[in-house]
Amino acid sequence: MQAKLFSPLQLRGVTLKNRIVLAPMLTYSARNGFISDWHLVHLGKFAVGGVGLVFMESTKVDPRGCTTPNDPGLWKDDFIEPLRRVTAFLRQHGAAAGIQLGHSGRKARNSLPWQGRAPLAEAPGVDHGEAWEIIGPSAIAHTAGASVPRAMTPADMRDQVRRWSEATKRAHAAGFDVLEIHAAHGYLLHQFLSPAANQRTDAFGGSLENRMRFPLEIVSAVRAAWPQDKPLFCRISATDEAGWTIADSLRFAQCLKAHGVDIVDCSAGGMTARSVADPGPSPSYGYQVPYAETIRRELDIGTMAVGLIIHAEQAETILQAGQADLVALGRELLYNPHWALDAAAKLDQQDAYATVPANYGYWLEKRANAGFARCLSTWQSGRQAPR
Ligand SMILES: Cc1cc2nc3c(=O)[nH]c(=O)nc-3n(C[C@H](O)[C@H](O)[C@H](O)COP(=O)(O)O)c2cc1C
Repeated sequence: MQAKLFSPLQLRGVTLKNRIVLAPMLTYSARNGFISDWHLVHLGKFAVGGVGLVFMESTKVDPRGCTTPNDPGLWKDDFIEPLRRVTAFLRQHGAAAGIQLGHSGRKARNSLPWQGRAPLAEAPGVDHGEAWEIIGPSAIAHTAGASVPRAMTPADMRDQVRRWSEATKRAHAAGFDVLEIHAAHGYLLHQFLSPAANQRTDAFGGSLENRMRFPLEIVSAVRAAWPQDKPLFCRISATDEAGWTIADSLRFAQCLKAHGVDIVDCSAGGMTARSVADPGPSPSYGYQVPYAETIRRELDIGTMAVGLIIHAEQAETILQAGQADLVALGRELLYNPHWALDAAAKLDQQDAYATVPANYGYWLEKRANAGFARCLSTWQSGRQAPR
């Protein structure tokens, strides 16, 4: 029987061949906003491994919005051509190409994670050494010791709306099929949503409706610039450590749906120093799946689940139970880029080995059916492999 994990999903004019998604993950490997062969090989291998939708990492609409000096960008046309190579390769191997657009706001300008992720007090700008200003909804630092942002003016907000819209047009020109707005993890749009980061007294602060205003202006601008036949995702932190609740997310997601968002990608957290990929001492499998389930059930909108989705049967159960339409995997796919093939074999899918290109699948199927196949799972010391 065909597993739901391997059933296609039609979203507007785009058909995803299966429900397996590479979650957007920064690799901190860009230079001056430009991607390189690293990104082609890194993302390409997930398409070769059978992933249905491969997301390019958080790509910044504004050099000031880079989390680190090595974030990729889409703030100028020069970035389009190298990205085209990536999208062409992904499509050639049957994957849809996704891009996440983001702006880190007050969480911008840090050293790389493996250099301590420390706030950089003085750093040359990402693009060409320009002044690297930190902006946010209010002059409130993310954590003690972090940079204090300059509170954005109405002109700054209009400028951001224009930047997101232009970056969206560039994403289309670069050949992406799916675009995701990053409104999660304590970054700029989440900062506007959060009363802890947004203490404005104008029409963009105060009530929930006011705090949603700027993020929704961005969503409107992106939807208007993104072709109607291409699906739009929005990643949210369904709950956070600073008072944002699932009830707030339901209201926000209802507005996202009204603004033309097709899939709500349900993550959480990001308002403290703790990494969102490290949610606590003993997180359980699929710890964020209930958010995707609640939003899908209450609002009749598509959702994507993410966070410690590890096993094929676990992913299949999430989809079968109607908790989400798509499952996104981050670190598990980094660990095993051929996870989709492994899942197809474990779920006994017909033509499982066609999940990967024939120049791998042909040999791997023979290997699985060969007389020595039991050696693949059982190591018997001192014994020869049967011939
Ligand atoms: C190295 C790394 C980079 C990440 N970068 C991003 C990112 O660019 N955008 C984003 O929304 N989430 C990012 N995340 C979060 C992942 O998309 C994902 O939500 C998280 O890792 C939980 O899923 P997992 O348990 O399958 O890894 C990142 C996570 C990791 C480990």
